[in-house]
Amino acid sequence: MESTAKEVGILAMDIYFPPTCVKQEELEAYDGASKGKYTIGLGQDCLTFCTELEDVISMSLTVVTSLLEKYQIDPKRIGRLEVGTETVIDKSKSIKTWLMQIFEESGNTDIEGVDSTNACYGGTAALFNCVNWVESSSWDGRYGLAVCTDSAVYAEGPARPTGGAAAIAMLIGPNAPIAFESKYRGTHMSHVYDFYKPNLASEYPVVDGKLSQTCYLMALDQCYKQFCSKFEKYEEKQFSISDADYIVFHSPYNKLVQKSFARLYFNDFLRNSSSVQKEAKEKMEPFSSLTRDESYQSRDLEKTSQQVAKDLYDEKVQPSTLIPKQVGNMYTASLYAAFASVLHNKLSNLVGKRIVMFSYGSGLSSTMFSFRIQDGQHPFTISNIGTVMNINGKLESRHVFPPEKFIETMKLMEHRYGAKDFVTAKETSLLSPGTFYLERVDSVYRRFYAKKGSDGKLSAAANGTTINGY
Ligand SMILES: CC(C)(COP(=O)(O)OP(=O)(O)OC[C@H]1O[C@@H](n2cnc3c(N)ncnc32)[C@H](O)[C@@H]1OP(=O)(O)O)[C@@H](O)C(=O)NCCC(=O)NCCS
Repeated sequence: MESTAKEVGILAMDIYFPPTCVKQEELEAYDGASKGKYTIGLGQDCLTFCTELEDVISMSLTVVTSLLEKYQIDPKRIGRLEVGTETVIDKSKSIKTWLMQIFEESGNTDIEGVDSTNACYGGTAALFNCVNWVESSSWDGRYGLAVCTDSAVYAEGPARPTGGAAAIAMLIGPNAPIAFESKYRGTHMSHVYDFYKPNLASEYPVVDGKLSQTCYLMALDQCYKQFCSKFEKYEEKQFSISDADYIVFHSPYNKLVQKSFARLYFNDFLRNSSSVQKEAKEKMEPFSSLTRDESYQSRDLEKTSQQVAKDLYDEKVQPSTLIPKQVGNMYTASLYAAFASVLHNKLSNLVGKRIVMFSYGSGLSSTMFSFRIQDGQHPFTISNIGTVMNINGKLESRHVFPPEKFIETMKLMEHRYGAKDFVTAKETSLLSPGTFYLERVDSVYRRFYAKKGSDGKLSAAANGTTINGY
């Protein structure tokens, strides 16, 4: 029997990022980089990071608990739980199994799904698994829950300022205010060593930054081509960026997002689309004879297309850049944090709008897909999602650390990665009530978490007795 679910998509969302950050302006001075390199060159404002108290498990516990509470979802109503992450802690043991503690308490262990891993793409795989389940014959009428959780940290060097950390939870079901246009997915997958984590003793990736940029842009071209041809097959008209109200990109750092939108505009130019103005056409004409490979290397094309696409970038892309610029790369959560930024910035004016999403994970996996925003029913409305996420509140209540403290934290975390038999300082004053945090790791690597109580203190029930790995 086919599922009867219609308009399947995101019913509710919540986001969590740690309250600790460093300013990029201060970091570039501390690193001895030229002024403007991180803020203009990479386009980043701040970098959020986990201290010894937080990690991908604690952040996902925090965001899932918060979503269930704030939208008043009975944990028994979840039938599928999928986690996207590229920060693997227990290797064979999924983060999903950690989250099961929230559901076991209410007697619900009948929940399908495990973790999906492929660099920054895992969150999209988790989301698609939930959406596909609700649209399938095995759907039992309950909700799906897709969780993205990552801490992006890099070794000392040019990639380090592109770190960040966050977790996002998305509730999936029918009649959603954020509905998938499921027929228009365009995917490109390929084998490449642009970013990977072969050294299991270190949290840091091996990254070829320049190669990863080119791979990202090549994947974008391929996905856009597939997306357009699927759209054209079903709608019988050409697709161009003017058919998208907002375009949301996976955001490792903002400069790449600027380049990506310009690349889509160049694609529209090559496809002779009406979205490209006459003056812009004239400026891009000299580049029309470049081979595809030449076009990825041409600095002049990059600069010219960014300049002619600037107004459209401000209209269609800029609203998505708030959280990625403020928090940094959140790996699997980056694309959805950019999407959350559009919801936050355009809250009252989104119904009927189409939002095109581009997901990229190195290695590589990539998909372009789209949402259509609709009226929902309380509590599943865009305005309620905006209220629950409270993005301004979360950004403003962060604590800015000096770069020295950030570097010191990175050093401590290097020792802690894969370590056993240690306790954390449990200095939780910066954490909001309801935040989970790591207390200790025992002699056989089992991790013990506690939750900061709503009164700001630790309640006995939350203090390691339920969330403790047994
Ligand atoms: C992105 C990355 C490659 C940049 O490395 P880098 O060695 O600092 O690179 P560059 O020297 O080219 O500088 C980056 C940009 O800053 C610009 N820049 C440098 N100094 C500047 C200054 N003082 N003021 C303004 N801009 C400056 C450069 O011109 C360049 O801009 P461009 O890309 O438009 O040419 C590196 O941070 C990285 O590897 N990041 C992780 C990889 C990643 O996330 N890949 C994305 C795929 S998912």
